[in-house]
Amino acid sequence: MSISKPLAHDAARLHVTGQARYVDDIPTPGAALHLAFGISAIARGTVTTLDLDPVRAAPGVVAVLTALDLPGANDVSPSAHDEPLLSEGEVFYLGQPLFLVVAETHLAARKAARLAEVGYRDATPILTIDDALAADSRFEDGPRIYAKGDAQKAIAGARHVVEGEMEIGGQEHFYLESQAAMVVPLEGGDMLVHSSTQHPTEIQHKVAEALAVPMNAVRVEVRRMGGGFGGKESQGNALAVACAVAARLTGRPCKMRYDRDDDMIITGKRHDFRITYRAGFDDEGRIAGVDFVQYARCGWAQDLSLPVADRAMLHADNAYHLPHARIESHRLRTHTQSATAFRGFGGPQGVVGIERVLDHIAHALGKDPLQVRRANFYQNGQTTPYHMVVEDFVLDEMIEELTETAEYHQRRAAIAEWNAANPILKKGLALTPVKFGISFTLTHLNQAGALVHVYQDGSIHMNHGGTEMGQGLFQKVAQVAAASFGVGMDAVKITATDTAKVPNTSATAASSGSDLNGMAVKAACDTIRDRIAAHLAQTHQTEPRRVHFENGKVFVGDDEMSFAEAVQSAYLARVSLSATGFYKTPKVEWDRIAGRGRPFFYFAYGAAVTEVAIDTLTGENRILRADILHDAGASLNPALDIGQIEGGYVQGAGWLTTEELVWNSKGRLLTHAPSTYKIPACSDRPDVFRVALWNKGRNAEETIYRSKAVGEPPLMLGISALMALSAAVAACGTAYPDLDAPATAEQVLRAVHRVRAA
Ligand code: MTE
Ligand code: MOS
Repeated sequence: MSISKPLAHDAARLHVTGQARYVDDIPTPGAALHLAFGISAIARGTVTTLDLDPVRAAPGVVAVLTALDLPGANDVSPSAHDEPLLSEGEVFYLGQPLFLVVAETHLAARKAARLAEVGYRDATPILTIDDALAADSRFEDGPRIYAKGDAQKAIAGARHVVEGEMEIGGQEHFYLESQAAMVVPLEGGDMLVHSSTQHPTEIQHKVAEALAVPMNAVRVEVRRMGGGFGGKESQGNALAVACAVAARLTGRPCKMRYDRDDDMIITGKRHDFRITYRAGFDDEGRIAGVDFVQYARCGWAQDLSLPVADRAMLHADNAYHLPHARIESHRLRTHTQSATAFRGFGGPQGVVGIERVLDHIAHALGKDPLQVRRANFYQNGQTTPYHMVVEDFVLDEMIEELTETAEYHQRRAAIAEWNAANPILKKGLALTPVKFGISFTLTHLNQAGALVHVYQDGSIHMNHGGTEMGQGLFQKVAQVAAASFGVGMDAVKITATDTAKVPNTSATAASSGSDLNGMAVKAACDTIRDRIAAHLAQTHQTEPRRVHFENGKVFVGDDEMSFAEAVQSAYLARVSLSATGFYKTPKVEWDRIAGRGRPFFYFAYGAAVTEVAIDTLTGENRILRADILHDAGASLNPALDIGQIEGGYVQGAGWLTTEELVWNSKGRLLTHAPSTYKIPACSDRPDVFRVALWNKGRNAEETIYRSKAVGEPPLMLGISALMALSAAVAACGTAYPDLDAPATAEQVLRAVHRVRAA
């Protein structure tokens, strides 16, 4: 059977030979035009004069559009209708699109976009968390609060208390393929949109609104993205809408892609956070009560910030039972890029907060942080701060196994010896767990559809609402289809996501792609299979339950035939060989205002042990070894799942160590290229990198073949790198290191000085 086989990514060969087609590679029919935005040079204020004549006069320019030229809605927001495609005079961030250039070539459009003469009236931008708090600049009226019990009282009554504050930086997605769209005008004003998006239905919806046409006039197709990481849930809207508007105006295909710098300057990133904490605990480090305040810097438009900030609150417990907890969340509006979804969707920031608290508690008590972490682990039956009962907790068993295989205790002792002997280089070791909630917290999004055809030669055409961004979703779901019909993978054709085949889809996000679409495809395949079985049972005068599909064959009672023969027979008997499938996640219900309910169908678990070394003279540091044990349930595809875990860990460690976003006092993003923004390179991955799937993994809930979602949770394994750095710095003295993230070399050096001075 095709399930649980470690098959390569379906497009691996195409990826490495350069044949995989991304939006910019699609041959354009007719003479395509190319688009570029003219962007604001200030962060806040109004445009007083806009002279576009030099732009219009530039070589190759066909048209220049402003907000006044748009045929329909000037809005690309996925949520609050607060995000104009083109500024209507007011400017909200440095990089905001003011006008749109349509030209014969990509370069001509980009060059011309720089020629506008723009006059501004400057206002003082609100840039930082402090600025926003001082100006009371926020989304929603006030902070949102989730609470369980009485945290203040529990803290007041505890034997020990720690308190602190931590800054957690944002993160650029750095998908290898930048944002891109191409729109081909069809007859009667209809539009075919190719977009690099995680959310084809949202693109369809926004393009329809912008053109003032119904959604059935717009068809969106997505074969693949060169990475999305959440950055293509909503941030592709602007390009697709711009292309559609220009295609309507000119009648020609229109294409737009951001160059890397533009992509970084224009689009949203991970929310940076400040988290303050107070925790009361006993001599063993067991938490009695904790009080968090989370400040999220959301940027200029609401985008997905409310659910992102909600998810940060929902992960303020991570794997730990907090008998009394209060979590207060501030969603701050600033004149910067509109922060958006990024792998973990706020969850990682929440998890960093509680991991910091446990690290701090262990330091205060002089205990092994692992011991303190384990003392606080959930027991099944206990409730989260949002009043959901935890029933599938498996970390005790996993940690038992991981500490053995990673030789945690031996290495911790060896590192203590090393640190005692070495004044300059210090090492640190940390084990951190992950418990991540799986499901969209907006309950209605937990649905999916599929469309499957079986052709009369026995070949299968599979389609569903999920999108492929490198994570391997298409291959996993194709494995489900092949298993359903008992055929080989080569019988299943993977096809591009297409709003004309499966409507009203949710974004491929929240790690739920294979859970949702796997089930929907299985439903469609099973429907067709059952029809074929019923037909064959009739022709063979037997029961449908005596028809089996296996190894490309169909067994009917004592008879057998090839799958193609069975299909041919069904076709001749006029049996329908096409079906839709639908799935909605059971059991989830959530009141986000009250902070109560069951937002998640289940939890995914994992743990990582990271060892680092720091140079106390320069702050430079590196990861020496990482050991990971991750629970992907009964994995649909162990090879792809391991790939997700490795990538997630490295991306998470990069976020917390080297990836630093810097804005100047005018709101200009200074780190807008790989020269200044340091994502992990191949050479930054751990020298020793041992990644294993937990072989006892099996979803307690009835998911597709009992697998678990694996897309986002491993990112949080990277937190062990930050905690290992904290341990290494702590070895320099007696004070708590108080590391902010990212713990860049400069940060680490400052912390070493702080700890030594204390
Ligand atoms: N893996 C790769 N290679 N590229 C990506 O863009 N996105 C991540 C994760 N893994 C991503 C990735 C994010 S943010 C999510 S939500 C999931 O994949 C989405 O896919 P899934 O639901 O199929 O896991
Ligand atoms: Mo992922 S941040 O849910 O796209």
